[in-house]
Amino acid sequence: MLLSDRQGLIEEAQRICLSKIGEAIEARGQCTIALAGGSTPKPFYEAMAAQNLPWGKIHIFWGDERYVSPDHSDSNQKMARETWLDKVSLPKENIHPMPTGANDPEKDAAAHEAHLREFFQVSEEKFPNFDLIFLGMGGDGHTASLFPHTDALTVSDRLITVGKKDDQPRLTFTVPLINNARCVIFLVSGSDKQAALDQVFAEEGDYMTYPSRLIQPEGELWWLLTGVELPE
Ligand code: 6PG
Repeated sequence: MLLSDRQGLIEEAQRICLSKIGEAIEARGQCTIALAGGSTPKPFYEAMAAQNLPWGKIHIFWGDERYVSPDHSDSNQKMARETWLDKVSLPKENIHPMPTGANDPEKDAAAHEAHLREFFQVSEEKFPNFDLIFLGMGGDGHTASLFPHTDALTVSDRLITVGKKDDQPRLTFTVPLINNARCVIFLVSGSDKQAALDQVFAEEGDYMTYPSRLIQPEGELWWLLTGVELPE
């Protein structure tokens, strides 16, 4: 969906988000949302902070996290807390940050995977179904911390793995975990994303070079775009 400007993208993201929250709580008594990092989602998170919602029934996760402390300026957790989570009455236990304190990304990835399996009550072979997963896309076609030509792209038997950006470790949802979501929403803004977008939407294309092509959920997939032209 091509939106006229950033405000249009925020409003549409809010519309879908509020609708999915209502549906999830009605159907299952709670709503599980995984947030994207980066800059595009910030104004959307700020807008959500102004909503009056049953926060006790909403659980917040992250689709990826830089391997830094939660108070580091690069932390996706810090960004979401400052723009949204710390401004609403979300119970502490409803916020599920990716751990980054073990000084061992694989160990933290395994710990978060265990936390997700416990929370969703799913066994080893199964993938939980998040109600909503928000994603961004980089100019190289990456999403979450699934970067081109990295091992993380092919992990199919885990929920969480270690992504690599320029050799910097990041924790990330795996492709199958994202694709098991009930609803995935990409928030993409800026002409610098056009080339990657064209490749992601092309009939034929290389999944390893443009990882966002791998995101093909069983549930709903929304692309909320602004500052680009709709791919052919
Ligand atoms: C991160 C994000 C990453 C981001 C894209 C787009 O941790 O940085 O999860 O995947 O969504 O890089 O970032 P922008 O929205 O800032 O363009």
